Amino acid sequence: MKQPAILGGSPLTDHPIRLVRPVLPTLDTMLPDVSDTLATGMVTKGRYLAAFEQAVAEHLGVAHAVAVSSCTTGLALTYKALGLRGSVIVPSFTFMATVSALIWAGATPRFVDVDPRTTNIDPDAVRAALTPDVGAIVAVHNFGNPAAVDALQALAADAGVPLIFDAAHGFGAQYQGRPVGGFGSAESFSLSPTKLLIAGEGGIVATNDAELARKLRVGREYGNDGNYGSEFAGLNARMAEYNAILGRHSLDQLETAAANRNEYADYYRQRLTQLPGIDTQHVDAANRCSYKDFSITVAAEAFGLHRDQLARALAAEQIDTRAYYDPPVHRHAAYAAFAPPADALPHTNWLAAHSLSLPIHSAMDRTTLELVCAAIERIHHAAPAIRQALAD
Ligand SMILES: Cc1ncc(COP(=O)(O)O)c(C=O)c1O
Repeated sequence: MKQPAILGGSPLTDHPIRLVRPVLPTLDTMLPDVSDTLATGMVTKGRYLAAFEQAVAEHLGVAHAVAVSSCTTGLALTYKALGLRGSVIVPSFTFMATVSALIWAGATPRFVDVDPRTTNIDPDAVRAALTPDVGAIVAVHNFGNPAAVDALQALAADAGVPLIFDAAHGFGAQYQGRPVGGFGSAESFSLSPTKLLIAGEGGIVATNDAELARKLRVGREYGNDGNYGSEFAGLNARMAEYNAILGRHSLDQLETAAANRNEYADYYRQRLTQLPGIDTQHVDAANRCSYKDFSITVAAEAFGLHRDQLARALAAEQIDTRAYYDPPVHRHAAYAAFAPPADALPHTNWLAAHSLSLPIHSAMDRTTLELVCAAIERIHHAAPAIRQALAD
């Protein structure tokens, strides 16, 4: 095995391997719809939005799919429309938008820990945090791994509070054979370019609650009640026709994207867990992860290098990685005021320090997967020399 690039060897690849690459419909398939939009002048609030919403509702098996400008605005409007107040239970091992939307809607985050195996919010931690001032529970299908839906629904029902899912990574994920989307009061998806279903930018809120869907439609139009009055303080969170057209055609590619990513994840998992100190997210056998991200954990003593040292060595091989989510949200400056005592989120802090997301997208070739694995293997084998070089 040749010398790793960080020790002066040549990189395993001439072409940088990026973390993500959007896989998009061809221009040919989209052109008739785009031409039609230009000819009619209906560039927003038109029939392509309605068609996209209907196709998504059918795909997810939900009564209502409300398209919005992003998952973040979808979450903020959902929180607002449900009238959330008081403390809201939320994980900190998530992307910042799960929590920023809570603040915009006027609620207070109460951070709870995640299950270190699934990386999703831990129902036992939720139970322990459920005091009478809690107004809602927010869970995330992290990296596309379905959350503990049944346990969370039971906890929310017992406490009489709404349960909302941040399903930003959720397209392509299935909980016990059903697409995520129909659980809790609502689920908010992201359609940005790092996802399996892409609309350029955009979000979809899925719900079976007709009144909530109505309020979301009002909310994405400034809160306008239809008579130039305001039912509540809304946003402009509309999705334009071009984005809806892109999303509608991207939906045709979703199943292939999810199947491909599961195949790539199987390969990564099978090969990389043979290395000491490397572990991967646990996905329940009854569920399907979308693998919006594929994340490993690196236990430094066994592997020989810390996560950040591995990331630096991979960067030298021209392989892009991300430390999702480091720092976790409760350690961001904007949310420090809501942080629990330092020892309250041990699994969140451990995952933040040890997780590394590897390159994955919806149409990879086998060579790329092999290169990433071979790079991690050769870095592991040269761990003592790399430690020394980095210390120098
Ligand atoms: C967990 C999570 N929630 C929310 C968002 C925000 O999504 P958007 O960019 O569509 O607002 C993201 C973005 O990737 C995310 O990862």
